[in-house]
Amino acid sequence: MVTGAGRGLGRAFAEACAAEGARVLIGDVLDDLGREAERTLREAGYKADFHPLDIGDPESVTEFGDWLGEIAGPIHGLINNAAIATGIGGSLFDEIDIETWDKVMRVNVRGTWLMVRAVAPLMTDDVGGGIVNLASDTALWGAPRLLHYVSSKGAIIAMTRSLARELGERKIAVNALAPGLVRVEATEYVPQHRHELYESGRAMPRAQFPDDVVGAAIFLVSDAARFVTGQVLPVNGGFVFN
Ligand SMILES: NC(=O)c1ccc[n+]([C@@H]2O[C@H](COP(=O)([O-])OP(=O)(O)OC[C@H]3O[C@@H](n4cnc5c(N)ncnc54)[C@H](O)[C@@H]3O)[C@@H](O)[C@H]2O)c1
Repeated sequence: MVTGAGRGLGRAFAEACAAEGARVLIGDVLDDLGREAERTLREAGYKADFHPLDIGDPESVTEFGDWLGEIAGPIHGLINNAAIATGIGGSLFDEIDIETWDKVMRVNVRGTWLMVRAVAPLMTDDVGGGIVNLASDTALWGAPRLLHYVSSKGAIIAMTRSLARELGERKIAVNALAPGLVRVEATEYVPQHRHELYESGRAMPRAQFPDDVVGAAIFLVSDAARFVTGQVLPVNGGFVFN
């Protein structure tokens, strides 16, 4: 199960899970993109199902959970990828408006919690499962001019640790993935100097692409990582170490 799989990293995660043999269930607030992802995956011979989802709306998440319960057996992995991740950078801490701050928190933080609440009951106690929450390395190095987003991703890291303790007895591993600045549609608006800061500051000095992140996501939802829990894995070519 991948949220926000209509484009960007989420789409790459869905394709990678499908290529590994998973039946992929995807949700996105952008209907057209979600349906297109479903169609592309099916045309490639994979099993994929899309259902509309707005993680900012508790009723939508509940309805999505009901759909999951109806069409699928036990869920083995949840990649909590959906977030407000574009178009919000650039403002200083005292320039962000309350409405935008609340929206980022509502979607990125509360939405991630609501998805765990909806999907964890669909993971069985005998097999367990893997949950991967998308954090960001901005929360590790203290990126400026992005305070609402950075705070939301810091909350994801904190939430991941507490959820790991609450879900451990049910054999559900919960981890956070913290990518660096990835070259995707969502980051095209980011100023060139910020891209350069990342791309020259990495231990491996180059641009980062979705393919650089999918392997770690696949690992964390897979059985190979079932005894890894509560961890934050930066995947950023060594821009910042955890
Ligand atoms: N791209 C990066 O550089 C980068 C770096 C670190 C972390 N991340 C994280 O990776 C994830 C994906 O980022 P991306 O770059 O692919 O961004 P993106 O904007 O391309 O993708 C986000 C996806 O989530 C969907 N979405 C947004 N709000 C939603 C909602 N309320 N309900 C359901 N779906 C919703 C969007 O429609 C979109 O398909 C995000 O959690 C982001 O914070 C991205």
